[in-house]
Amino acid sequence: MSKIFAFSIRKDEEPYLKEWAAAHPEVEVDYTDKLLTPDTAALAKGADGVVVYQQLDYTPETLQALADLGITKMSLRNVGVDNIDMDKAKELGFEITNVPVYSPNAIAEHAAIQAARVLRQAKQMDEKMAHGDLRWAPTIGREVRDQTVGVIGTGHIGRVFMQIMEGFGAKVIAYDVFKNPELEEKGYYVDSLDDLYKQSDVVSLHVPAMKDNYHMINEETIAKMKDDAVLVNVSRGPLVDTAAVAKALDDGKLFGFVMDTYEGEVGVFNEDWTDKEFPDPLLKDLIDRPNVLVTPHTAFYTTHAVRNMVVKAFDNNLAMVEGQEPDTPVEVG
Ligand code: COI
Repeated sequence: MSKIFAFSIRKDEEPYLKEWAAAHPEVEVDYTDKLLTPDTAALAKGADGVVVYQQLDYTPETLQALADLGITKMSLRNVGVDNIDMDKAKELGFEITNVPVYSPNAIAEHAAIQAARVLRQAKQMDEKMAHGDLRWAPTIGREVRDQTVGVIGTGHIGRVFMQIMEGFGAKVIAYDVFKNPELEEKGYYVDSLDDLYKQSDVVSLHVPAMKDNYHMINEETIAKMKDDAVLVNVSRGPLVDTAAVAKALDDGKLFGFVMDTYEGEVGVFNEDWTDKEFPDPLLKDLIDRPNVLVTPHTAFYTTHAVRNMVVKAFDNNLAMVEGQEPDTPVEVG
């Protein structure tokens, strides 16, 4: 009987794990709520593969600890693979899968909702209401249909975001190094990022984090944007120089900022800081601003997405364990 062990299973994932296990009586499934570390790896002893999700790094030591147990088949329940030490994974012969498309709508919807809320100055109006100030002015909104929305990255999420924004009536333009033929034919693409910055009222990031796009949004690129632009990052924290964005908000260059992913989020997001010293002054400053909407990397966090993440990761892992080609292998190295 094959055995699959899952790490860091949250309460909201448990029902979907049990659903999968019930549908696969031929597989022994076990799990823990603990993150995968060199110390906890031993919990997976005897398993043929592991199912994981965490923002904590998969360090050489962690990967070695699994390999020492003879486990080299690892299925991520998420899409991002930027926290895996790929050199070590390759050296140890790891086979890795991810879930690249668990629900593009979850993330795209969140980006669209938050962008629209910033444009309507919804947080400012909510704050006024909470204090009994029911006056209209000066909290006037901007309609989405009057905006040019620039989408950087036209993968699954970017494309759903484009559809939603078009549904609101916005003019949508896009940039991607890998062009989608259908979008290209319809003339969505601008020639360069500079063109996109120059034309967009809303700039939304939908690209993975890579070495060469670290801080692609910085003082220089913000300067190229329209005055009163809204920046949306529901993608990856390191894409944005957060201090540069704070400065642009201070200067009144940016109208607002939607931030679901933050370069300093690891160890801070998905923790309860109530009654504790808040660990990050820059993050606190952004949370407190009326024109900034911070969420703790929850754009993905819907019932639809979580179910797909669990089920697809287990499907992938089982395929590898049984020596078949998994649906969504990750290039290791
Ligand atoms: C990913 O799938 O890589 C995400 O960014 C969502 C994650 C927090 C589960």
